[in-house]
Amino acid sequence: MDVLILGGTRHARALAQRMVDDGVDAVTSLAGVTSSRRPLPGATRVGGFGGVDGLVDFLRENQVKALVNATHPFAGSMTTHAASAAARLGLPLLRLQAPSWRTLPESGEWTWVADHDEAARAAAAVPGTVLLTVGRQPVPHYLPPLADRTVIARCIDAPDGPLPPRWTVLRDKGPFTLESEKTLLTRVDVMVSKDSGGSGPDPKLVAARESGVAVVMISRPSAPAYGEEVATPEQAAEWVRARLG
Ligand SMILES: NC(=O)c1ccc[n+]([C@@H]2O[C@H](COP(=O)([O-])OP(=O)(O)OC[C@H]3O[C@@H](n4cnc5c(N)ncnc54)[C@H](OP(=O)(O)O)[C@@H]3O)[C@@H](O)[C@H]2O)c1
Repeated sequence: MDVLILGGTRHARALAQRMVDDGVDAVTSLAGVTSSRRPLPGATRVGGFGGVDGLVDFLRENQVKALVNATHPFAGSMTTHAASAAARLGLPLLRLQAPSWRTLPESGEWTWVADHDEAARAAAAVPGTVLLTVGRQPVPHYLPPLADRTVIARCIDAPDGPLPPRWTVLRDKGPFTLESEKTLLTRVDVMVSKDSGGSGPDPKLVAARESGVAVVMISRPSAPAYGEEVATPEQAAEWVRARLG
């Protein structure tokens, strides 16, 4: 195998398609945590590697020549493991991730927080209905401060365990249109989001600004320095071409 793509994002899917188009021997790896999965272009493997040692073994056994970490900006463990494994093997590593939303002019109006616990407290400080767009796994962080509040939790899969009576789960998967986000946000007073980033403002952020909805934005986790970084699948495909000669 020439290239291992650590996936689970739209960028990873787009890169996988480019690898197929370019005839590169690439495999996309998925954690296997979401149930609704569209088939990816090219070869795939599913499931964790078993930490850094497991990833090192996998990269060695498959004689991988270049590693692209195209996981979500909040996939902190996989990102750390990828950097450690690549450093140990002296393997070229690329981080492919969308640019942070911090560069958007409206980002100065948001409440930036470091983690989910802080986000839950910040959302609780704003009266009215809360929209959580942070995924299923972090939901327990929001339960204590928001137990008595009206909360809409938008997730691909329903959170585990019982939720308070005024909570609603909205099972849905993006991309969302500006129209649908505007309709949802008319029912909301404060929205919690992760800084997933993108090349421009996300429809939910545009809709929040237009509807006067307060935004609590969770900063990206810090990432190890090993490797290079690009923002688009096109740039990543170019990097792969350069690495493989
Ligand atoms: N976190 C988010 O907000 C978010 C949003 C959208 C999509 N995703 C995608 O969902 C997946 C899991 O995210 P997470 O936040 O749970 O990650 P994480 O906390 O960084 O990873 C937890 C563990 O899951 C395994 N894993 C993660 N990504 C993997 C991949 N692409 N291939 C194989 N194993 C993987 C690794 O297990 P081992 O240690 O056993 O190798 C890793 O240590 C990632 O592929 C990510 O791109 C995450």
